[in-house]
Amino acid sequence: MIDRPRFLVRAVAAEELSGRLLEQVLWVFGGALGFPLRHGRVNSFADTLRRHAAYGGFDAFGAFNVPRNRLVGFTYGYSSQPGLWWREQVAAPLTASQREEWFGDAFELAELHVHPSAQGNRLGSELHDRLIANQPQRTALLSVMHRSERARQLYASRGWECLIAELRFPTEPQTPFSLLGLRLQKKQAQ
Ligand SMILES: CC(C)(COP(=O)(O)OP(=O)(O)OC[C@H]1O[C@@H](n2cnc3c(N)ncnc32)[C@H](O)[C@@H]1OP(=O)(O)O)[C@@H](O)C(=O)NCCC(=O)NCCS
Repeated sequence: MIDRPRFLVRAVAAEELSGRLLEQVLWVFGGALGFPLRHGRVNSFADTLRRHAAYGGFDAFGAFNVPRNRLVGFTYGYSSQPGLWWREQVAAPLTASQREEWFGDAFELAELHVHPSAQGNRLGSELHDRLIANQPQRTALLSVMHRSERARQLYASRGWECLIAELRFPTEPQTPFSLLGLRLQKKQAQ
């Protein structure tokens, strides 16, 4: 009999993700994006995560392997607020009416990563769906790298719309991203 890997997806508190689980988060983040563990980009993500964990509306889910209970994937986001760095970057090229429509009452999906050793088990899909189902806002927003083919497929199949086909961040000018937006069903139905 083939012993298939088993996984558990559950909500994780901000303090857990940025505290007890931080080393495992960095292992997943570095592995998913192809950086060695002590790479500067991985170290700086620890500071980013601690900062994000304090934002209003922060919500996170983790995927764990069973029975080792080691983190193999995570996702998180928070309520979009005027003045937050990412929002100022991505909203600038939009018209005033697009900004109101998409950023008036929005959730920012900041991170979604599954370690390569666990990819292809639908964990990315489940993490995404559980996080999004939990949000009370009217819309959700994220930026995705052009080269993240699997992530783009995941978002396209879940109704995310492309709002800006190509944008670049001053921190990473060599990397093209797209801005995607999703209308959240609960608010649409009201
Ligand atoms: C994107 C990511 C989170 C997906 O996690 P995963 O657990 O491997 O994904 P799933 O098994 O749930 O599959 C997700 C989708 O990718 C598709 N997919 C699977 N393997 C694929 C492949 N080799 N190439 C393209 N798409 C693929 C699946 O069919 C599924 O699409 P569907 O929902 O239309 O059926 C993961 O691959 C990852 O961490 N990638 C690197 C980091 C990254 O790009 N993060 C996103 C930042 S915005």
